[in-house]
Amino acid sequence: MPSPQNIPLGDTKAQYERLIPQIMERLGEVVESGRFILGPNVQAFEQEAAQFLGVPRAVGVANGTDALVLALDAMGIGPGDEVICPAFTFYATAEAIARRGATPVFADIDPATLNLDPEDVAAKVTEKTRALMPVHLFGRVMPLARLAELDVPILEDAAQAFGAEGVARTGVLSTFSFYPSKNLFAFGDAGLVAANDEELADRVALLRFHGSREKRDFKAVGYNSRLDELQAAVLRLFLGEIDGWNQGRRDAAARYRELGLGDLCELPVDEPGHVYHMYVVRSSERDRFAQALEESGIGHASYYVTPLHLQPALRYLGYEEGSLPETERAARENLALPMWAGIPTESQKRVVSVIRDAAAVTA
Ligand SMILES: Cc1ncc(COP(=O)(O)O)c(C=O)c1O
Repeated sequence: MPSPQNIPLGDTKAQYERLIPQIMERLGEVVESGRFILGPNVQAFEQEAAQFLGVPRAVGVANGTDALVLALDAMGIGPGDEVICPAFTFYATAEAIARRGATPVFADIDPATLNLDPEDVAAKVTEKTRALMPVHLFGRVMPLARLAELDVPILEDAAQAFGAEGVARTGVLSTFSFYPSKNLFAFGDAGLVAANDEELADRVALLRFHGSREKRDFKAVGYNSRLDELQAAVLRLFLGEIDGWNQGRRDAAARYRELGLGDLCELPVDEPGHVYHMYVVRSSERDRFAQALEESGIGHASYYVTPLHLQPALRYLGYEEGSLPETERAARENLALPMWAGIPTESQKRVVSVIRDAAAVTA
């Protein structure tokens, strides 16, 4: 019988606990105001997030998946178009492309970073390619200079990388998710489209509200995908914390290294701008390590074990096992370990010691 989990994979409550009185005050203000849809908090959060990210505009939407669908729609992408993205990512990345009636084209990843391999992207560009959609996976920003040379609009799926250095700088649009496990999070679903192009920002804002500015004239077939006032009020508060939280995650990553985890498995390449939305190591002994963590009550996860090109809903695209070798190897080898800002050193020591014992059995 596995023991009850006593070190979780993530602990956002530990991060926001000291803020609960302020959170309740902000939520109370919204309740008192009686304004719940596209009110002053959404407007202020859009301005504050745009300033934080260094982009001219940001538009709050209902979640990170809608952010992608609206962004693609605003860019005019639909049937007959191809969009290049990774297959080692959450399903929503490719789902949004397919939802628009366009074709996801999968490029392989660079094993050192787990982000797209720019040369494989370049090889897959055709006359139908209408956008490139890199994902800044697990909080590591993919440098986009090589993709920018390909002269195809870039849409950054930055769902996992709010506040990471260099995010949202290159893409015409970049999307974020504030799902509760993300490094910047809401108390439910929420998302954002950051725009370096004012016209596209206007288009996203129109589309999120049924294609209308004032609910009388409907200029496009749109969506109902607005960021809530209550979520925006919480996000405004958390925006003031995000640099500290991201630094807390970097400190925890440095500690895993100091504790000698790198002798036992492959660590994520250390980069100053990485925000470690997830702390993901690699090992050919992944399953054995995962079992040892499970038996010790330690949270762990293996992501994208069936990569997107092999998902049942996307088999129609015609990929086979072996089509994307590095993606498939990462799917077999990745293992996420406990990570949050303020994770106790004692917990990290325990994680490393359990993996050390499991590695000794293997050796
Ligand atoms: C890479 C990526 N893209 C898109 C999404 C979709 O975001 P949401 O869950 O807010 O719809 C997520 C997260 O869930 C994600 O990790």
